[in-house]
Amino acid sequence: MSRFGIQLDLQGNLKHFLTIEGLGRALLTEILDRAEGFLGVAEQTVKKVPLCRGKIVANLFFETSTRTRTTFELAAKRLSADVLNLNIDTSATAKGETLLDTLRNLEAMHVDMFVVRHGESGAAHFIAEHANPHVSVINAGDGRHSHPTQGMLDMFTIRRHKGDFGSLCVAVVGDILHSRVARSQLLALRALGAGEIRIIAPRTLIPAQARTLGARVFHDLREGVRDADVIIMLRLQRERMQGAMLPSEHEYFRLFGLTEERLHTARPDAIIMHPGPINRGVEIDSQVADGRRSVILEQVSNGIAVRMAIMSLCIGTQNLHG
Ligand code: CP
Repeated sequence: MSRFGIQLDLQGNLKHFLTIEGLGRALLTEILDRAEGFLGVAEQTVKKVPLCRGKIVANLFFETSTRTRTTFELAAKRLSADVLNLNIDTSATAKGETLLDTLRNLEAMHVDMFVVRHGESGAAHFIAEHANPHVSVINAGDGRHSHPTQGMLDMFTIRRHKGDFGSLCVAVVGDILHSRVARSQLLALRALGAGEIRIIAPRTLIPAQARTLGARVFHDLREGVRDADVIIMLRLQRERMQGAMLPSEHEYFRLFGLTEERLHTARPDAIIMHPGPINRGVEIDSQVADGRRSVILEQVSNGIAVRMAIMSLCIGTQNLHG
């Protein structure tokens, strides 16, 4: 392992993309700048560049996904890679094959990159530790731990609308405790030097280490979004909750649901973000989700360029090592 950790090679080049933790502002900015260059590919007659021609990317999604899986597939195809989409429900995993055996079999087909979503925190890291040295692993979401490409596409969307992070107040609202997205966003915002980071949630949905992530904590939505430039809404992760952490969805919406009326204290040009899937009438009102300040669908489009940037950086590092 390099002195930079498992994600980087000895020269500090990106080999795997597993978490934003430990990555510096320079590398995160390089990803955002590179993604900027890939946005135009969508406008070309032939929506492809040859950067990953001849490479094989395997999408291993052990958990459901709409946005992440499809945008990774499109990103890989736009980079001219060949893509394998393993359907876990109809794969040998359903017959009891272990994760490592699945990995070894796909490596025998000369896969160059694994894109992994898994319900267990640390799964992508585990695969990176056990994969052949020439293979790259990208974390597409692991348990409650990390969703770093989502974090980066959110930073990309913020930068395109607001420019420099240093002057921004960014509020993240909702189920912070169970959210791998929030963890990645908070790490990225801090690394990129966001002026003020806030988290807004009921006491039961705030992790103990919230303040060590550099965020101010609010329990009142109107106060929390006051003068915010960016408001990121999160879904209640019911599937990860143990026991009753909330009275009811109706009560949650009454206190923490984002409506036009509750947005009055935010800056007039504030943008509204959400990683999806959205639950209308639970954390966000349809008028806001579909309104003029919403950039939710832009986040999805930007995900392709950002994933192209991350994949091409990892493949570039593989090429350096022959
Ligand atoms: N934002 C996100 O991870 O969405 P999917 O679960 O649809 O991939």
